[in-house]
Amino acid sequence: MGQNLILNMNDHKFTVVAFNRTVSKVEQFLANEAKGTNIIGATSLEDMVSKLKKPRRVMLLVKAGQAVDAFIEKLVPLLEKGDIIIDGGNSEYRDTNRRCKELAAKNLLYVGSGVSGGEDGARYGPSLMPGGAGEAWPFIKDIFQSISAKSNGEPCCDWVGPEGAGHFVKMVHNGIEYGDMQLICESYHLMKDILGLSQDEMAQVFDDWNKGDLDSFLIEITRDIMKFKDSDGKYLLEKIRDTAGQKGTGKWTAIASLEYGVPVTLIGEAVFSRCLSALQAERVHASSQLKGPDALKFKGDKKQFIDNIRQALYASKIVSYAQGFMLMRETAKELGWKLNFGGIALMWRGGCIIRSRFLGNIKQAFEKNPDLSNLLLDDFFKAEIQKSQAAWRNVVSTAVLHGIPTPAFSTALAFFDGYRSARLPANLLQAQRDYFGAHTYELLDKPGEFIHTNWTGHGGNVSSSTYSA
Ligand code: 6PG
Repeated sequence: MGQNLILNMNDHKFTVVAFNRTVSKVEQFLANEAKGTNIIGATSLEDMVSKLKKPRRVMLLVKAGQAVDAFIEKLVPLLEKGDIIIDGGNSEYRDTNRRCKELAAKNLLYVGSGVSGGEDGARYGPSLMPGGAGEAWPFIKDIFQSISAKSNGEPCCDWVGPEGAGHFVKMVHNGIEYGDMQLICESYHLMKDILGLSQDEMAQVFDDWNKGDLDSFLIEITRDIMKFKDSDGKYLLEKIRDTAGQKGTGKWTAIASLEYGVPVTLIGEAVFSRCLSALQAERVHASSQLKGPDALKFKGDKKQFIDNIRQALYASKIVSYAQGFMLMRETAKELGWKLNFGGIALMWRGGCIIRSRFLGNIKQAFEKNPDLSNLLLDDFFKAEIQKSQAAWRNVVSTAVLHGIPTPAFSTALAFFDGYRSARLPANLLQAQRDYFGAHTYELLDKPGEFIHTNWTGHGGNVSSSTYSA
């Protein structure tokens, strides 16, 4: 990633000093990939800092966590007032909040930037989400916007906000990435196990989907994965162990949603699905113990069901992005950040892993109404989800009857039904809380007044104090 970003900066006529703790890696880089470029090598941090123009702009691409703090600790004594440190890794946003404060106290400017798009993105145009010390932006804007991906000529990079806002937005991007991937995996599962499609047939389906509303990088690579054959001529996909890995950004998104009380259910299910997949030995044992429904033969129209899956995926995706933006809105409110949601959609429109045509529609929705409270209430998305509803319900119910798990499709539909309900059964929940714990409830016609009822006649009339978590 680091090397590719350097090469990308060099392509855009910026002179970059490359450094790696393992100095031989710098030498190799200069002798190979960077040969004939203007890239300068450094043999130590001191050497690197001495070769930089002021204010110095130092970008770190190291593993999130302790390694970032360790590098900062070594760098700080070498820097001067107004110099800039940029962390381009997937750091946890609260770490970035802390580092911003610590470095501001030392008169240094700290930037935490989301960088998305993998190695190819870094080389030819990533999506960049910088946030932190705003005074740093004029000094890095030109570099960042030049090397970033472009969407209709506009850079997929803009200043996100203060403190860890850039890393927070990148974290939500990754959570949404988990959701998109899970939805695609569920579509694959349904096509494979209910419809019995071959990989070639599925490749064709993903290819078709990629020409419409679902046009995106993740659908495109899924098509190519379906077609990919190993050296023995057999499909590679079938040989891959079904246990998903994860580095933590999806989990952090789910944790943040619990912390801020935002029902980001789809990303949560996507993370749990990875956890369930990782219990492979247990699942293999359980598969011989727990029987599902008797094998059903699919009797409907295959072509029509494939299109229903497409619509279920599209509707669930709308819910997932609506939830992701709900989380960003609530967090921004809590932390006093001003986020530009249309700008965030533009940053994700190109270069990053979730890049898609769909993000162009999200950008338009927030441009039309920057105060849009929920994506589901935008006219375009409202109409789209209404159109897909019958197909979506058919897919979820068919999956349930066939015993195929579709946690992301199902939770999206449950959220949709909950969100559009003027009345939910939480009245009973409040009654239960008050019954066993005197936790009090409000009456519909007396909001703000907390009442306790002595439900049993022997529970007493003393209520517990109210507080909300
Ligand atoms: C990106 C990706 C990247 C992330 C990988 C792996 O935007 O380029 O989000 O930052 O590290 O997707 O993530 P997991 O290992 O958690 O799946």
